[in-house]
Amino acid sequence: MKGAKRILFILGALAVVILILSRCMNAADKLPPDIRGEAYAGAATCVKCHKDLAQSFAHNAHVLTSKPVVDAALLKIFSPDSNRFLFDEHQKVVIEKRDSGIFQVAYQNNKAVRAQKFDIQFGSGEKAYTYGYWIGNKLYELPLSYFSAIQNWAISPGFPKNTFYYDRAITSRCLECHASYVDVKIKQESAFSKEEQMEKGSVIYGIDCERCHGPGKQHVVFHMENPEEKTAKFISIFKTLSRKQKMDVCGVCHSGNTLVAQRSVFVFKPGDDLDAYYSQDFVGFGGGGIDVHGNQSAMLKGSNCYQKSETMTCQSCHSTHENIKGNLAIYSQRCINCHQTTRHSQATLAKGSLTSNCIDCHMPKESSKLISFQQAGKDHLSAYMLRSHHIAIYPVIK
Ligand code: HEC
Ligand code: HEC
Ligand code: HEC
Ligand code: HEC
Ligand code: HEC
Ligand code: HEC
Ligand code: HEC
Repeated sequence: MKGAKRILFILGALAVVILILSRCMNAADKLPPDIRGEAYAGAATCVKCHKDLAQSFAHNAHVLTSKPVVDAALLKIFSPDSNRFLFDEHQKVVIEKRDSGIFQVAYQNNKAVRAQKFDIQFGSGEKAYTYGYWIGNKLYELPLSYFSAIQNWAISPGFPKNTFYYDRAITSRCLECHASYVDVKIKQESAFSKEEQMEKGSVIYGIDCERCHGPGKQHVVFHMENPEEKTAKFISIFKTLSRKQKMDVCGVCHSGNTLVAQRSVFVFKPGDDLDAYYSQDFVGFGGGGIDVHGNQSAMLKGSNCYQKSETMTCQSCHSTHENIKGNLAIYSQRCINCHQTTRHSQATLAKGSLTSNCIDCHMPKESSKLISFQQAGKDHLSAYMLRSHHIAIYPVIK
């Protein structure tokens, strides 16, 4: 009895101390820590006040573009009749559910020779999923990717087509465009070689609010402490940015994969000059090799719409907070915002009502020169199709 009283007393005293301490704490201390540092708040905090954006954010391709693999979700696309890839009669990769997870298992003459687990998924699945597995502090790409166009597995882009391959490293560069953070250490392996080590537990999956809006802790604290204030403070106001600054916010990830990053773009924030992060892309501009994959910025900048208007940016057509995917009538309305009158020939006008779909004629889908994929039993590569952001007059096919 005495013991129980003492415990009650201690608990009571503790409660008082906690109450006093929590009164002393300011708003900043109540926020959960963010691995990126003091300046960041994390998406879970942002959506507490921006509730109306939470729903669109949850379904946005940006936030879905990387995540840890959850077996149940993977099993949805894991149908028994298409869970294998045959290279030839001796070699195959089979997707297998085992007790400890789901694996890509390589077989040589029906003997399992290599098995790696699905750990992390890249891509929202809009076009494709590619998977990675961890060994210690290193991430590698699995030999098979899933392509939505064929609803099936095929060899991961750029992988050899005659045999299975498990040793392609996924560097932090992929995560710079497909995630919000990973802690990277450079290990000096020898006098000549450096190796990158990524801390698995530090990954912030998906592209979150602060990758596009910059670190927001100060904004959060201010508005928590001043709930009556209705104008945004301590966060960059998008409409006050210059045209280049607006293009740079998206250009961090949408100006191609051939750029050489001089420093990590994880810390890029609106208003920064992207040229301070990337060195010039001579491959893309010099060789006319601008690709529809990943390089919407350069494609758009090559168009007359961009060059002859002073205001066009990605926001002329896209708002990252709405979901109008596939609604080409709404997109066409955005063309008409600038093109109230158009001079089409009788032949073009005869194709029917033009106003509901300017897109298929002036931004046709094109196959990527960088990405294509190998299906089982096919002797040619399959095309990976993307919208061309080079808005122009194309030969009419239909
Ligand atoms: C305590 C409440 C609160 C939290 C938490 C909060 N905001 Fe805000 N935010 C506001 C208020 C109030 C405004 C001004 C009214 C409005 O535009 O909705 C605002 C406006 C904004 C704007 C619009 C700026 C403009 O262009 O006018 C952005 C962007 C923004 N917040 C981003 C964020 C991000 C990113 C986070 C998380 C890091 C965040 N907010 C967390 C309260 C909050
Ligand atoms: C892929 C980049 C991107 C991501 C991710 C992103 N935003 Fe935005 N956000 C923008 C851009 C660009 C604008 C300006 C839109 C415009 O002017 O058309 C904007 C506008 C806003 C605004 C102004 C009001 C509005 O609805 O237009 C708020 C508030 C905001 N964002 C909050 C957030 C929050 C909170 C998150 C995370 C849940 C988030 N954003 C994630 C790019 C992004
Ligand atoms: C941190 C990198 C990053 C930034 C910054 C970024 N994006 Fe993206 N964006 C991506 C990736 C990766 C995808 C592919 C997502 C997927 O489907 O897996 C994507 C997909 C998209 C898509 C196609 C999917 C959809 O939602 O319709 C659009 C449009 C888009 N981005 C526009 C923008 C615009 C506009 C901005 C600037 C406000 C921007 N992005 C900023 C990385 C980024
Ligand atoms: C410079 C930024 C950048 C880098 C680096 C990058 N990607 Fe992407 N990736 C994108 C963008 C932007 C898209 C979507 C639009 C497109 O294809 O043009 C995309 C699309 C994808 C998709 C298809 C998503 C879908 O469902 O539509 C996958 C899968 C993918 N990337 C995986 C990877 C992997 C794995 C790596 C590293 C080996 C990588 N990416 C490196 C920017 C990048
Ligand atoms: C911000 C304003 C703006 C938007 C939005 C816009 N354009 Fe343009 N576009 C222009 C300007 C300015 C020109 C140059 C007109 C000229 O030379 O007379 C142009 C030129 C063109 C041309 C002629 C191209 C050439 O190479 O000769 C086509 C076709 C075109 N636009 C189609 C579109 C379509 C389709 C959309 C929507 C997907 C669109 N535009 C969106 C401003 C815009
Ligand atoms: C059936 C295909 C097709 C559709 C749909 C279409 N265009 Fe065109 N457009 C063309 C062709 C082809 C030309 C070159 C002139 C011609 O032969 O008609 C052209 C020319 C243009 C031009 C340059 C001539 C000028 O008016 O200055 C603009 C701008 C343009 N289109 C904008 C649009 C817009 C905006 C829409 C949607 C409202 C649209 N187009 C729908 C095929 C199309
Ligand atoms: C003139 C209008 C216009 C502008 C400006 C524009 N886009 Fe797009 N974008 C589109 C249309 C239309 C689509 C096809 C949408 C669909 O099918 O749902 C698209 C699709 C995309 C996709 C998905 C790729 C695919 O093939 O499915 C990405 C990524 C993208 N845009 C990024 C950007 C970025 C980044 C910018 C700025 C550099 C930009 N866009 C500027 C009209 C535009």
